Amino acid sequence: MLLGVNIDHVATLRNARGGLEPNLIQAALICEKAGADGITVHLREDRRHTKDNDVKELKAVLTTRLNLEMALTDEMQKIALDILPENVCLVPEKREEVTTEGGLEVASRVEFVKDFVSPLVNAGIVVSLFIDPDKTQVEAAAKTGAQFIELHTGKYSEAYGTENEQIEFDNLKNAAALANKLGLKVNAGHGLTYENVHRMHQIPELIELNIGHNIIAHAVFDGLEKAVKDMKELIQ
Ligand code: PXP
Repeated sequence: MLLGVNIDHVATLRNARGGLEPNLIQAALICEKAGADGITVHLREDRRHTKDNDVKELKAVLTTRLNLEMALTDEMQKIALDILPENVCLVPEKREEVTTEGGLEVASRVEFVKDFVSPLVNAGIVVSLFIDPDKTQVEAAAKTGAQFIELHTGKYSEAYGTENEQIEFDNLKNAAALANKLGLKVNAGHGLTYENVHRMHQIPELIELNIGHNIIAHAVFDGLEKAVKDMKELIQ
């Protein structure tokens, strides 16, 4: 299974001071060196983490793939057609949400999504729709011209270790099987952690997992001891 690393929260940390540290490009290159199969960033309408220039720079330096998560707006479509990331993942976006809360609503607006996807695919971009593991949404996604879906694993992640875990897991498994049958390729992501990711191996259709927050959180603790030791040594 492939791993796409979402580095939005490196940008969140950088933006907290308004400068260039930690450097987003350096972070992306470290992820690639460590084996990431692609780098994901979400260019949000309010630019709260990654900025337009980050996306341009990433596209220029990455040797794997740039996966641009974006909303279905004219502005974002123009940016994607200008920068030409290898992958675009279409996500719903609400200004006030902390992170992407639910999957994209495709079923009630197949024609709109199809018209949005078409120029991207024609430009050579591989397009994915971030949807809930729901039969209706999967069936609708198969009519849009998008080559991939990314199943929203948020509910599974929240239910992990509770009595609802199996229900949420089965929803993912069934949705992946249906998507595959309908000719869609299947990725998954959101809320996956070092603890709950292992069950994704039980879904044979999955090609790539997109994971961000938990990897960056892990990196903070993995690096903190050395960071303090290095500073201590310098000031002694
Ligand atoms: N996939 C999509 C479509 C997302 O919007 C996000 C969050 O930006 C992720 C995957 C990664 O989620 P997390 O940061 O919880 O690993």
